[in-house]
Amino acid sequence: MSNLSDEEQHLLIDLAIEARRRAYAPYSNYQVGAALRTKSGRVFTGCNVENAAYPTGMCAERVAVFKAVSEGEREFEVLAVVTSNGGSPCGGCRQVLAEFGLDTLVLIADGQGHLVQETTVAGLLPGAFSPRDLQAKR
Ligand code: THU
Repeated sequence: MSNLSDEEQHLLIDLAIEARRRAYAPYSNYQVGAALRTKSGRVFTGCNVENAAYPTGMCAERVAVFKAVSEGEREFEVLAVVTSNGGSPCGGCRQVLAEFGLDTLVLIADGQGHLVQETTVAGLLPGAFSPRDLQAKR
């Protein structure tokens, strides 16, 4: 599906594995790592950061997206997400990713770096509500 070589895919997955080691997940004990490559070739990583006040924690994918956007990057090419079991990005993260493009590739891998699923944001969130929907407001 992607134009990425196996080597490029695995480079990004390795960065997500590395980011996952920095996860702060003392409550769920479910560590997540993400690595987001922009169209300009920069990579922003993220890990989940939990909190004693549970809902204030943040997912790895959103940390990576917010880091990128706060550094002036809004065009994304591919996101790699790593969990122990190849878990899929949550609904909130899908919506945040959709804001910046439905074509962003998403590589979902397990803790060993095995690719479990390769899809796109559109594949993860069919019928997404996006900035275009607001243009039609009346
Ligand atoms: N988590 C993520 O980081 N990304 C997801 O897409 C799913 C869930 C985190 C949030 C929380 O720290 C832990 O995984 C368990 O839900």
